[in-house]
Amino acid sequence: MDNSKPAYGQETQKQEDVLILAIESSCDETAASVVKNGRTVLSNVISSQIDLHTLYGGVVPEIASRKHTERINQVITQALKEADMTLDDMTAIGVTYGPGLVGALLVGVAEAKAIAYAKGLPLVGVHHIEGHVSANYIEHPDLEPPFLCLIVSGGHTHLVVVQDYGKFEILGRSRDDAAGEAFDKVARAIGLGYPGGPKIDRVSKEGNPDAIVFPKGKLEDNPYDFSFSGVKSAVLNYLNGARMKGEEICQADVAASFQKSVVDVLVEHTMLAARNLGMNRIAIAGGVASNSALRGAMEEACRRRKYSFYRPSPIFCTDNAAMIGVAAYYEYMAGTRHGWDLNAVPGLRLGER
Ligand code: KG4
Ligand code: ZN
Repeated sequence: MDNSKPAYGQETQKQEDVLILAIESSCDETAASVVKNGRTVLSNVISSQIDLHTLYGGVVPEIASRKHTERINQVITQALKEADMTLDDMTAIGVTYGPGLVGALLVGVAEAKAIAYAKGLPLVGVHHIEGHVSANYIEHPDLEPPFLCLIVSGGHTHLVVVQDYGKFEILGRSRDDAAGEAFDKVARAIGLGYPGGPKIDRVSKEGNPDAIVFPKGKLEDNPYDFSFSGVKSAVLNYLNGARMKGEEICQADVAASFQKSVVDVLVEHTMLAARNLGMNRIAIAGGVASNSALRGAMEEACRRRKYSFYRPSPIFCTDNAAMIGVAAYYEYMAGTRHGWDLNAVPGLRLGER
């Protein structure tokens, strides 16, 4: 079936407000949200599986899919209830269809298709990373493209120009680990466990960020690209060296020094791009955008240069369905409709439909 052609005929305009029921299940959060006119979040329900996966030291895809199946109906019911609405009030169904864990994505996609089919509603598939960027629109009514956005999540590190809603120019990306992945791996190595990012953030507050100098990943051929495998290896080498010499490791100092190395690179590359491209509106997005050191450093860098700085509240940085509802709204308004053959696309690239 041609995905560009809608496979439904009953698209009716029931009210002036555009109400999107959004579903997100790409990783380990089962989430649903009702978003009005793209910017007003009427409900944002997130059922986290963190406790379950902590037992295994990371997300177990099979368990994630099963839990999504178990919880998704309840989460949607709750999202509608909190918004004081029913499915009959909805204008369209938005759903993350990639990138992410295929089994996890499939639960949300199948659910969205079933609801859209049963209710005769348009189906709008959303790119997860487009969702992360769109989280910035929720609390910043003045923010409109174009702007520069640093996207830092568990699977992605991208520096992009948001040219228009859903339209991106990718300036740089990580050549190896994503920023969040580096946080998670280092957290495991220093004994903090899963989920690593928030734990490093917390422990770093007790540590000295200048205690150990870890390398900053710089790439000669593209100043906007990132590399985090070097700093990760440097932390592992430091830990091994200390163990071999019988020296005690200060967890907080290692965490704070690692965090500083990553944050410095993220801020430097973003500021370089802003200067070279003459952009004065900077946003951050993705799970790592909830990191307090990154938020502080980016805010300060922007303040010094008189740039406007935008960041979602932490609850909208990590995976949620409200951001998917916002992205779905702009896709819906631009005419994006998916057919009944919508499938999960685990490796969906940014800007791809
Ligand atoms: O965006 P997200 O919730 O899921 C993906 O799309 O990947 O990002 C999850 C990532 C994880 O690697 C997690 O450790 C990291 O974001 N993260 C953080 C913080 N909170 C979440 N990293 C650093 N500091 C935090 N406070
Ligand atoms: Zn995410």
